[in-house]
Amino acid sequence: MSGHNVWTHKGTFLLAAVGSAVGLGNLWRFPYLTGENGGGAFILVYALTIFAVGIPILIAEIMLGRTSRQSPIMGMRHLTKTHNTSRGWETIGWLGAASAFLILSFYSVVAGWSLHYTWQMLTGSLIGADAETIGAGFNSLLASPGLMTLYHTLFIALSALIVGMGIHKGIEGGLRIIMPALFIILLVVLGYSAVNGDIGAAARFLFTFNLADLSLEGWLQAMGQSFFTLSLGMGAIMAYGAYMSSTASLTRTALAVAFVDTAVALVAGLAIFALVFGAGLETGQGPGLMFVTIPLAFAEMPFGALVGGVFFILVLGAALSSSISLIEPVAAFLVERFDLTRPQSVALMVIASWALGLLTVVSFNLWAEGTIFHTLFGRSAFEFIELLTNIFMPLGGLLIALFAGWALTQSEVAKELGGHDTWFAVWRFLVRFIAPAAVAFVFLRTLPQVEGYWIPAIGALVIVGAFAAGRTFLVNNAQQQ
Ligand code: PFF
Repeated sequence: MSGHNVWTHKGTFLLAAVGSAVGLGNLWRFPYLTGENGGGAFILVYALTIFAVGIPILIAEIMLGRTSRQSPIMGMRHLTKTHNTSRGWETIGWLGAASAFLILSFYSVVAGWSLHYTWQMLTGSLIGADAETIGAGFNSLLASPGLMTLYHTLFIALSALIVGMGIHKGIEGGLRIIMPALFIILLVVLGYSAVNGDIGAAARFLFTFNLADLSLEGWLQAMGQSFFTLSLGMGAIMAYGAYMSSTASLTRTALAVAFVDTAVALVAGLAIFALVFGAGLETGQGPGLMFVTIPLAFAEMPFGALVGGVFFILVLGAALSSSISLIEPVAAFLVERFDLTRPQSVALMVIASWALGLLTVVSFNLWAEGTIFHTLFGRSAFEFIELLTNIFMPLGGLLIALFAGWALTQSEVAKELGGHDTWFAVWRFLVRFIAPAAVAFVFLRTLPQVEGYWIPAIGALVIVGAFAAGRTFLVNNAQQQ
C-alpha cells in the first residue's frame, strides 16, 4: 500500500510542500490581488492571516497526514475509527479530493496560458509590440478554444507523467530539478527588474500600509489567498504529510513552508511591480496583470524576449510543482481503495479533471455568456467551479482545525510536535479557537445574502462555542488525556 511509503530524505517533505505552495497563487494571483486592493494594506492582512490561521492549519493538516500515513480519504476514515469520532469527519478527505479535482481543472488551463507566453516570448514575437497589440493577443488566445485546449492538455499530461512515475522517481525526482531552477530564475528576474524597472516604487507600493485602502472584499480575498497559497484544505498537504519522515520537525517544517511561500510571493511582487512601474503601466489590471502588463513591460526592455521567456518558464515550473500535488491525494486514494496501479489511478483522475477543464476553456469563448450556467447560477462555468473551491477550501480548513484541535489526543499531538510545551499550547489555542472562528467568520461573510458583520461574527462564535462545549458528541471523551 502506498501509504507506507516515506520520502527518500528527511527534508523531502519540505521540498514537496514548498513545491505545492509556491505556484500560480504566488506569481499570478498574489500580485494582481495586491494590485487591485491597494498594495500594503492587503499584504498586512494577508501576513496576519498566514500567521494566525494559515500556519496552525498547515501544522494540523500535516499532522493528520503523518499520523494516518494514508491518502486523505482513507486516512480520515482510519482516524475516525481510531479516535472513535463520527464517521462524518471523513468529509475532510472527500472535500479535499473534490477541491483538488476541481482546482486542477482550471489551474491547468491558466498554467496553459503561460505555456503560450513562454513560446511567444522566446520566439520574440511580442518584442516592440504596443499595449493594444498585446491586449488583443491575450484576447485572441482566450477566444480560441482549440489553442487553449491544446495548452491545457499539454500541461496536465506533463503533470500526470510526473505523478504517474511514483512519489520517488516522479515527484521527488521532478521537484529536485524544478525547485532549485525556480529559485535561481526568480533571483535573476528580480535582479533584472531591479536594474531595468523601478524597484523603489514597487517597494513603496507593497510596503506602505494604509488600512483605509482595504475594502471588506479585499480583506476576504486576503484570507482566501492565504489558504490558496499554502495549499490548505485540499488534501495536497495531507497526502504529502503521509510520506513525511517521523523524525522531521513538524513545526519547523511548517514555519519554513510558510516563510518560503510568503517570501516568494513578496519577491515576485517586487519584481513584477518594478517592471510595471518602470514601464509606466497600471497595477490594477486584475488577472491580465501577468499576461498583458508583464509581456508589455518586457516588450520594451533590453533582452526582453529572453528574460520574459525565462520568466514564463518560472511560472510554468511553479504551476507544475503545484499541480502534481493536486493529483497525488486523489491518485493515492484510488490506489489504496481500488487496488489500481498508480498509472491507472493517475490517468483516471487526470482525464476526468481534464474533461472538466474544458468547461473552463469554453467559459472564455463559446460559453462566455447566455448559457444554462449563466441562467442557473448567474456566472460562467469557470466562475462557478472557482466559487465551489472557494467554499470547499475554507470548509475543509475549518474541519481540519477542529478535528486536529479537539479529536486528536494530547499525547498524540505532543508527540507530533516533538514535546515542545510552548508550541503545543500556542498551536492548540490557535487551532481550537482562533482559526475556526476566523474561517467561520469569513465563510459566513462570503455568503451573498449576508451584508453586515454581526451575523457572521455571532455565527462564528456559535460554531466554535458549540465545538468547545459539545466535544463529547463528537469525540469519545474517554479517549482524551
Ligand atoms: N498553492 C498553490 C499556489 O499558490 O499556486 C495552489 C494550490 C496547489 C492550491 C495545491 C491547492 C493545492 F492543493
